[in-house]
Amino acid sequence: MAWFVALEGIDGAGTTTQSHRLVAWLQALGRPARYTKEPSEGHWGTLLRRVLTGALRRARTDGSEEPFDEATLALAFATDRVDHLASEVEPALAAGVSVVCDRYVLSSLAYQGRALDLAWLLAINGRCRAPDLTLYLDVPAQVGLARIAAARRARERYEQEATLAEVLTGYARGVAALREIGQRIVTLDGTLPIEAVEQAIQAEVQRLMGRTRT
Ligand code: TMP
Repeated sequence: MAWFVALEGIDGAGTTTQSHRLVAWLQALGRPARYTKEPSEGHWGTLLRRVLTGALRRARTDGSEEPFDEATLALAFATDRVDHLASEVEPALAAGVSVVCDRYVLSSLAYQGRALDLAWLLAINGRCRAPDLTLYLDVPAQVGLARIAAARRARERYEQEATLAEVLTGYARGVAALREIGQRIVTLDGTLPIEAVEQAIQAEVQRLMGRTRT
């Protein structure tokens, strides 16, 4: 039996570290598992990464450039998602390999939902399968930003305190909307030490595996 698990949280919440640890733990249990992420490493995801760093901007006919608007991004993330499901996620699940996805639909609801209607975002993501479990790592905006600063990497679009504070509200709304359509989402305290978060995630996935087997 293969499971599709998504990890979510604001920038700096620890989704990448914890996704890799979860895959390693599943593999150590003898369960085939793979790590993947969105934006993906495919063509659309690569394009999106350039948009997020600011390298790729909208070119206007007068020769000037400006950042892309949120609706364009929402559609691009949904395009990447449908492609990512077809190229990587569905084939892995069909082969019995569990997939741990570092960000998924909830990220679109939280980030693009700051500016856009949730019903429209759910509609454009309507072809994307629901995860068996979404783990939401909750951290305050300052904690996320401090971790990004400690990692000494350049800030991308959305990585300012005021924006991340809005994204947190977006997560609260997005979690409620997905629960309403029957999705299983567990919120975990992402400010705890890495090992404590890792154990909490393992306990939830253990519960999922037990529940699915019966
Ligand atoms: P990350 O790879 O460092 O997590 O960065 C991805 C960024 O893209 C992060 O700021 C969240 C954002 N994002 C969205 O705005 N919408 C989405 O649907 C996804 C998957 C990511």
